[in-house]
Amino acid sequence: MTDTGTHGRRRSAAWFGAGGRSGMVYRSWMRNQGYSGEVFDGRPVIGIATTWSELAPCNSHLQRVAESVKRGVWQAGGFPLEFPAMALGETLMRPTAMLYRNLLAMEAEELIRANPLDGVVLLSGCDKTTPGLLMAASSVDLPAIMVTGGPMLNGKYRGGDVGSGTQVWRFEAELAAGRMTEEECFAEGCMARSNGHCMTMGTASTMASMAEALGMQLPYSASWPAVDSRRYETAQRAGQRIVAMVEEDLRPSQIMTRAAFENAIRVNAAIGGSTNAVIHLLAIAGRLGVPLSLDDFDALAREVPTLVDLQPSGRFLMEDFCYAGGLPVVMRELGGLLHTEAATVNGRTVAENVGDAECWNREVIRTLDDPFQEAGTGTAVLRGNLAPNGAVIKQSAASRHLLQHRGRALVFDTPEDYIAVHADEDLPVDEDTVLVIRGSGPRGYPGMPEVSNVVLPPKLLRKGVEDMVRICDGRMSGTGFGTVVLHVAPESAVGGPLALVRDGDWITLDVPARALTLEVAEEELERRRATWQPPPPVAARGWSRLYTERVLQADQGLDLDFLVGSSGHEVPRESH
Ligand code: FES
Repeated sequence: MTDTGTHGRRRSAAWFGAGGRSGMVYRSWMRNQGYSGEVFDGRPVIGIATTWSELAPCNSHLQRVAESVKRGVWQAGGFPLEFPAMALGETLMRPTAMLYRNLLAMEAEELIRANPLDGVVLLSGCDKTTPGLLMAASSVDLPAIMVTGGPMLNGKYRGGDVGSGTQVWRFEAELAAGRMTEEECFAEGCMARSNGHCMTMGTASTMASMAEALGMQLPYSASWPAVDSRRYETAQRAGQRIVAMVEEDLRPSQIMTRAAFENAIRVNAAIGGSTNAVIHLLAIAGRLGVPLSLDDFDALAREVPTLVDLQPSGRFLMEDFCYAGGLPVVMRELGGLLHTEAATVNGRTVAENVGDAECWNREVIRTLDDPFQEAGTGTAVLRGNLAPNGAVIKQSAASRHLLQHRGRALVFDTPEDYIAVHADEDLPVDEDTVLVIRGSGPRGYPGMPEVSNVVLPPKLLRKGVEDMVRICDGRMSGTGFGTVVLHVAPESAVGGPLALVRDGDWITLDVPARALTLEVAEEELERRRATWQPPPPVAARGWSRLYTERVLQADQGLDLDFLVGSSGHEVPRESH
């Protein structure tokens, strides 16, 4: 049977509307859950894809969010069915949750297509769950709406606010410098004190904001704290809305257009969002066939100032951002820099959604005339002989005096190699040294972990050095900071030039010129290339092997090559 669309006969009717033995089987087994027969009367069947898990603490409240969504679906005349999709918890998963983003995307794509669903609500929270579900929904292209789980309340410690993640990096540096003891920096129970994802503008908050900026979740959804009643009210409204979206046949491909991605990139610059958004947006766009390149990020972000004074670049946290008015205020402020005619899941345009947004705290959300950071200080894309396919740096999290820097390389093949010796007093390093950390890319690690902002050598920290240039083919946590060149492509494990750097080579970083240069003659690099040996495969079997064999490089979003594009929502053949 082919797709019946949402006009006339629904997709779910191929199951629940079927006659004979098949229809009886489909309906009868569902009735073992206590559903009465009228739920099979042709009403829209709405899947609720939840990434709930006790192993993903940031998503541990999504069952409650799902209950609110279900309430809305029932209210609007739909039939809600919750199903689990792989939960990816950033803090516990090894070697890195990023290794599994594509597995979640693949699993959710197949689950949505294989089941009798007419539309889907996507419940996410922790970093990779939002892009993973958006990638899946993009490839299936059934009506879909996202509900992120919301940030934790502000951390509170000794009378002040502490941000999850960001504060951990600061504690680590203070500890290494000998300025704090383990006991003094003990803030475990005070930092993560409610349900929700990290409450800095880290990757989770960034991707929740991206989902809203792309038009895939209802206005204000990104910032309601996870424990705020309005989070659950919003989830209920999303449940109501998805039923209408099925009637309207409003699908991700109609919402996440090139214009929507341009909006998201500019919003990311305005909120001081995570560099991980670059990778995730590239991957989502790839699923939709929307042309998007690394250079688009630089070009589009250059004219956008940072408006939001949030950690890790600034002072405040997501709870403050929410009370200041949230993302609609930022989008209203950006005004002419956005495609305000872009469609969103509620059937209204961006202009209609944000037109009456009011700011309640100008310290947290600044204006275009008085921004937190000037235009051009967001994520920059670098190129040069050290990163022929590009690298990125988050300028707002870097030290101004290091944005143009020349120094000698000190090279480590893996982040573990560096950590093993970084505290040695005789480590040949000073504040001008450029730390090169390789072996951290998509294939080499595998999964491109967030290891790039390695802690500085303690002997320099004790001298008061707070930042150094670091260059890596890995990623950095959205909560991290420092002058760190990330996502170097191609990565060292596939023979990218990063693999050819040697101790003592001069490296020049020139962010204003967008250049990253290894000052070694091409002939010498050719000599080194001729003797370079690829590292042995890091994965012998299973998902990791498939991943390392088929993953794309950072400049292409790290999707698996055979998952790029759409597979649609045609009803699969029947097996009985
Ligand atoms: Fe889940 Fe930070 S660890 S969002």
